Amino acid sequence: MFFRLMYHVVLPIYVVFVIFSSITLDKSQNNFLMILLGSIFITSIYLERVYPRSFIYIAAIEILSLLLFHFTSQLNWCFSIYIILLSKFLFQIKGVLKGIFLGFVLIAFYTVIRISYTPINAYSLLAVVSDFLTSLAVVLIIQYIIETERAKNLLEEEKKREELRYQEEKMKLLGEMAGGLAHEIRNPLTIIQGFLKHSKEYNYNIKPWYDLIISEVSRMNKLTVEFLQFSKPNVSLYQTFAIHECLKRVISLTESKARSSGHQIIYTDSNPDLFLPMDFDKMVQVFVNLINNAIQSMVKDGDITIRLFKVENKAVIEISDMGVGIEEANLEKIFSPFYTTKSDGTGLGLSICQKIIFKIMEERLR
Ligand SMILES: Nc1ncnc2c1ncn2[C@@H]1O[C@H](COP(=O)(O)OP(=O)(O)OP(=O)(O)O)[C@@H](O)[C@H]1O
Ligand SMILES: [Mg+2]
Repeated sequence: MFFRLMYHVVLPIYVVFVIFSSITLDKSQNNFLMILLGSIFITSIYLERVYPRSFIYIAAIEILSLLLFHFTSQLNWCFSIYIILLSKFLFQIKGVLKGIFLGFVLIAFYTVIRISYTPINAYSLLAVVSDFLTSLAVVLIIQYIIETERAKNLLEEEKKREELRYQEEKMKLLGEMAGGLAHEIRNPLTIIQGFLKHSKEYNYNIKPWYDLIISEVSRMNKLTVEFLQFSKPNVSLYQTFAIHECLKRVISLTESKARSSGHQIIYTDSNPDLFLPMDFDKMVQVFVNLINNAIQSMVKDGDITIRLFKVENKAVIEISDMGVGIEEANLEKIFSPFYTTKSDGTGLGLSICQKIIFKIMEERLR
């Protein structure tokens, strides 16, 4: 804005002022030629905005018309026009060295023309040095402005990029959360559906399972609440439980589904004396996911074996199935969200399990 004011308003005014002064002081070589050259110079300044692609040619016309204008006006005041023109070029070319070179070339032209109409003496020679130093100072000041402006723009761009990244991250997380919610609600829903189907088709008495069904419904409710409270810190209920109790609960939740798919859950190596500080419901969620995967991996009837044992001071929980297994090349992918080989899978099961386990480990490290 300020620079446009300088090039499109101040500069033409200055040219008119030089024309006026040159005529008044009777310095001009040829009034008509001087006015014509001044007009060409100003027109080319405006043309540059209209044809930015022809910058080089227009710049050449600007320089040439200025030199001739200076020569016909025979006024040293043209120096300011050279300096304003130089500052304009500096915004278009890159690099301090190029700027200094251009400044020196313009001042050299100016000096040659000035010497053509002024006597050469000590004053005139010292003025040359002063002119070169002025051009150097202008180049450095403009370069400083350009650098500051560039740094400011970079900072603003970085801020914008950061904001965009944050938005993208939020959207990604939101997508994952929505998928996760659907996934985690699907597990208890299938369990409840299994019970209801059994009850409807075989008149199976589900009364003994009422408590289990109610607790599953409240688990779904809890999950929904937790997802909705996503922005607030996730308060987990860490208490010390016997892992055996947790596994018993998992088995009671998954057994009917396994049986209806023709599989059997075998839990022999139990160890009631192994305790772990954990969020009970979340641990149940982990094992239900693992057992669901085991059930889905077996095409034929097969066993799902659960073992709980101690190795040194660590509790080991082992869940194995007789299914297709996982190819070694795919092992590193199974914890990635949305990785699935199933047509109806979300691929979130194991990634959620991993997150829960990491959270427990984090909690233990505190
Ligand atoms: N017990 C297993 N046997 C063979 N492959 C498995 C087993 N457990 C996991 N996988 C492989 O890991 C992939 C990812 O499992 P994950 O539980 O994360 O998602 P999913 O089971 O495909 O989908 P969803 O959990 O929504 O049903 C599965 O698609 C499967 O290829
Ligand atoms: Mg799964």
